[in-house]
Amino acid sequence: MIHATRRAWHAILAWAMLLSLAAPLPAVAQETIDPNHIPPSHDPARTANGLALTPPKGWNSWNKFGCNVDEKTVRSVADAMAAGGMRDAGYHYVVIDDCWHGPRDENGFITSDAKKFPSGMKALGDYIHSKGLKFGIYSDAGRKTCGGHPGSQGHEYQDALTYARWGVDYLKYDWCSTGSRNAEEAYALMEDALRATGRDITFSICEWGQNRPWLWGAKIGNLWRTTGDIWDSYSATDKAHWWAHNLLDIVDLNEPLWSFAGPGHWNDPDMLEIGNGGLTDTEYRTHFSLWAIMAAPLMAGNDIASMSPATATILMNRDVIAIDQDPLGAQGHRVRDDGNQEVWARPLANGGRAVLLLNRGESPAEIAVDWTELGYPGTIAADGRDLWTHKPLGRLKGRYAATVAPHGVVMISLLR
Ligand code: GLA
Repeated sequence: MIHATRRAWHAILAWAMLLSLAAPLPAVAQETIDPNHIPPSHDPARTANGLALTPPKGWNSWNKFGCNVDEKTVRSVADAMAAGGMRDAGYHYVVIDDCWHGPRDENGFITSDAKKFPSGMKALGDYIHSKGLKFGIYSDAGRKTCGGHPGSQGHEYQDALTYARWGVDYLKYDWCSTGSRNAEEAYALMEDALRATGRDITFSICEWGQNRPWLWGAKIGNLWRTTGDIWDSYSATDKAHWWAHNLLDIVDLNEPLWSFAGPGHWNDPDMLEIGNGGLTDTEYRTHFSLWAIMAAPLMAGNDIASMSPATATILMNRDVIAIDQDPLGAQGHRVRDDGNQEVWARPLANGGRAVLLLNRGESPAEIAVDWTELGYPGTIAADGRDLWTHKPLGRLKGRYAATVAPHGVVMISLLR
């Protein structure tokens, strides 16, 4: 293990000399080859990268396009994000997920698929930037990505350098074909390589929660997946893959981790399915509201260039987005569970609360919240606002109750 690490470092140093890299090698290099080194996240000298102080927002190709992603699609999505209001609603990252890769060249540098991306990644990154957006890409900590393309293992510094040359601002780093690798070490190595480029690159840890990244990820990455892949279904159980999770399963896996999230380091319950057709609009509003109250990254996963007005209205609901992006960065959680009826709450930077009334059941239900469940004295009054109708609810005292549609939510904010 130590020998493998030492060999990897020798290879990296050789590459660095060969390429005359201007960027200094990271100080952690010495620590990594020390057999008594402190694991990265427990290294008191390690600091967070300072990025993603609110949950990242953007678009990712995977949920809609899978391996059929190409340059034309990415350009059309970038155009639509700039022209259709998504960019101005804060969706900044355009992330190309798996299957953009060509082979490595004779020097080991990764290339892009020349058929799917004829202009190349630098030109595509320039185009995305010219639209006022940011460029994201995908790789994997193993020898191969989940789609079977070249992974970054053994090429971490070389790949980070390539991404920086292409103008990449965001890296999603997956966990297929990793064998017996230690996840914390593998992600720390890639993060160090990204930092050595001198470019601000938001780092998305995608190891599906298998190695409990909430315990070590805060100083290594900016977000970490907490579950297997989302599946565009509200609660069905006839899933196609063992790693697929319906909406309610994902919510129940992500919710208990609320105390690990904060500015710069977020629990990631996976990308949005809104607009992909598997849920009703009521259920998609529930999806968006739950992601916002959980301070989740908001990565749209639909075809932005052809989305319906109903989908656009959900994704660009600024009242709900403001809850997701609240600068306090506290992840909300369930404060009451009455079976099919739940109450969720999230403290806000202004001293207020976001409150979500969730009806998992099949018929309309009245759900009430008592101020004491929100950490407020029961006697105080607060200004309420309905975040889906955008209407003020007036001065509310002690309690609020609403009728909630089946599979639906009522989401409000309260300000004392
Ligand atoms: C894994 C990830 C997905 C996606 C695919 C790509 O399943 O969890 O989000 O990136 O790989 O192959």
